[in-house]
Amino acid sequence: MHVQSLFPKHQTNIPLKQLYLPLCLHQEAKAGDVLIYSNYIASLDGRIALRDGQTNEFSVPASIGNKRDWRLYQELAAQADVMITSARYFRQLDQGCAQDLLPVGQEPDYADLAVWRAEEGLKLQPDIVIVSASLDIPLAAIQSLQDRRIWVLTVQGADATRCKQLEDVGVSVVQLSAVKVQGKALRDFLIEQGYRSAYMIAGPAIHHTLLADGVLNRLFLTTHFSLLGQNDFHTILQGDMAPVMTELRSLYLDNNGKQMFAQYDIKENK
Ligand SMILES: NC(=O)c1ccc[n+]([C@@H]2O[C@H](COP(=O)([O-])OP(=O)(O)OC[C@H]3O[C@@H](n4cnc5c(N)ncnc54)[C@H](OP(=O)(O)O)[C@@H]3O)[C@@H](O)[C@H]2O)c1
Repeated sequence: MHVQSLFPKHQTNIPLKQLYLPLCLHQEAKAGDVLIYSNYIASLDGRIALRDGQTNEFSVPASIGNKRDWRLYQELAAQADVMITSARYFRQLDQGCAQDLLPVGQEPDYADLAVWRAEEGLKLQPDIVIVSASLDIPLAAIQSLQDRRIWVLTVQGADATRCKQLEDVGVSVVQLSAVKVQGKALRDFLIEQGYRSAYMIAGPAIHHTLLADGVLNRLFLTTHFSLLGQNDFHTILQGDMAPVMTELRSLYLDNNGKQMFAQYDIKENK
């Protein structure tokens, strides 16, 4: 598996394996700060998820999900102290329709990532922060994840019984004094906990929460060269906000000719 670098310099036949690992994202934030990064795979027409006619749920279309991109998804997770996600993943896990187990994968294909984390002094697995107002998080799915610390960041007025049930299964629930979790509050929380790298793996709503508050630092975007159409879909971002500028940091063309891997710095809102 190889890729070509198109930017910043042209280079052919670079191994895909360990393409992103040398970024060392866990070392990038200054002391007392955190680097927050997101990652998506999208079709040429911008779809990251389509509604499944049978389950009525949104999911990543099988026509774009692929192992080569998944390898990079895993490499980004390997560099994370913590991953930020939504309750949706746990609901899908509970219904047996999650795309995969949360990274970092335990399969032989990702064994190098576990070794790398240990060498870098990182915990076996990144911790998890779930952002949720409803607290509709199946307890069984939470209990199945015993290998990492799980936080839930929730809002003012969150259901007290539900908070207690989550705490009883070992989740640390943090209730913020606002009706929505704000990006700045999330970032402050990560810094308070000493996290230096945070990988956001949720969808467009949490992406908006981060981008609207100017706290996302880096976007990784795989563009799969397919056109999917459909009327019911998600893109990487939804919701009103001021424009956010980005700057291309790297661009690779996959040698299979089916996708490209881009990395953008998010510029500060002016
Ligand atoms: N192709 C890709 O690379 C890719 C990557 C990620 C996701 N996806 C797809 O995108 C779709 C949507 O993903 P998603 O549901 O995880 O993401 P999302 O749209 O970011 O998350 C939605 C949920 O997060 C909670 N939430 C978001 N912002 C909040 C805030 N400011 N305060 C409190 N709670 C907040 C709410 O949860 P509660 O309802 O619990 O309150 C909300 O229902 C899925 O189909 C997924 O497969 C695709």
